[in-house]
Amino acid sequence: MEQETSSIKENEIRYEDLDSPPGRRLGSGNFGRIFEGRYKNRPVAYKIMKHAIHSSIFFNEISILKSLDHECICSLYGYVRHENLMILVLEKIHGISLYHYLLYQEMDLSRKQQLGKQVLSTMVYLHNQLVLYGDLKPENIMIHPETMRHKIVDFGLSQRLESPISKVKGMVGTPGYMAPEIIQEEEYGLKVDVFAYGMVLYVLFSEQPPASPTTREYYLRSRSFRPYRKLIRWCTSEEAEYRPSFLELSMIYDQVLSQQTTDTGWWSCLLSFFFCSSV
Ligand SMILES: Nc1ncnc2c1ncn2[C@@H]1O[C@H](COP(=O)(O)OP(=O)(O)O)[C@@H](O)[C@H]1O
Ligand SMILES: [Mg+2]
Repeated sequence: MEQETSSIKENEIRYEDLDSPPGRRLGSGNFGRIFEGRYKNRPVAYKIMKHAIHSSIFFNEISILKSLDHECICSLYGYVRHENLMILVLEKIHGISLYHYLLYQEMDLSRKQQLGKQVLSTMVYLHNQLVLYGDLKPENIMIHPETMRHKIVDFGLSQRLESPISKVKGMVGTPGYMAPEIIQEEEYGLKVDVFAYGMVLYVLFSEQPPASPTTREYYLRSRSFRPYRKLIRWCTSEEAEYRPSFLELSMIYDQVLSQQTTDTGWWSCLLSFFFCSSV
C-alpha cells in the first residue's frame, strides 16, 4: 500500500482553497463518507477518511486514480489534509449506486445486459493498465438514472501489478464477491476481479444478494437464467485459471447473451474465439 510520496504530493490542495465545507452526505462505505463540496467553482465530492486509521488506503486511492483516465472511472482533482481528516476531492457523480438502484428501481433485461457490457469494457481498460481493482460490487458502481451510464468509484483496495500474470497476497474485497483464492489466503492475480464481476452479474440478473455456490446454482438453473448462466458460471469458476480474462469475455459477451444463443452456439462461439486467438 502507498504512502505519501513526492509524486502524490503534487496533488495536494490547501484546505483554504476549497470553495465550501462538506455539504449534504452523498454516501458512505467501509472507509469513507462522501459529501457534496465545491472546488474551483464546480461541484465536487469530498471523500473524507480518518487520518490515522486509513492513511495507506487513502494514498493508495490517490496513486491509482491519478494514473487513470477513463470516462467510466471517477476522476480525482486532488486531496486535502485538514486536522485529523484526509479528504479526496473527486468528480461529483450524478446518480446512485447500482446497489441502491436495484433496491429501489426497475431495470429491464436489455438495460441490465448493456450495463454488464459497459462495466466489462471498463474492466478491460483497468486490466490493460495492470490495475487489479479489488472491490468490484454494486455499491462501487454508480449509475446515472437517465442515461444508465456507469462510473466506478472506490480505488482504495486497488493494486497496480508488474505484469498481467503477477500474483499478490492479502485480504481485499467484500464477502460475497471475494474469489476463493482470497478467502483461502492464497496468492491471487487479476482473475479475482473476474470472479467479482461474475457475482455482480449474478446479483444484477437475479436481483438476489450474492450467494454460496449451491444457492447460486439453484437460481442459475431456473429457465429465465438460461442466456447468461454459463457466463456467470464461467466467471465464478472456483479455479482462477478456468475464469476468462475480461478481454476474452468482451469478445463473446454479445453472442453469449443473445436470446437466440443455444448451448451449441455458445460453445462454438467460444471455440471460434480460441481458434482465432491462437492464429
Ligand atoms: N464521486 C462520487 N460522487 C457521488 N457519490 C459518490 C462518489 N463516490 C462515492 N459515492 C457514494 O458513496 C458511497 C461510498 O463511497 P466509496 O468510495 O465506495 O467509499 P468506501 O471506500 O468507504 O467504500 C458509494 O457507494 C457511492 O454511493
Ligand atoms: Mg466502496
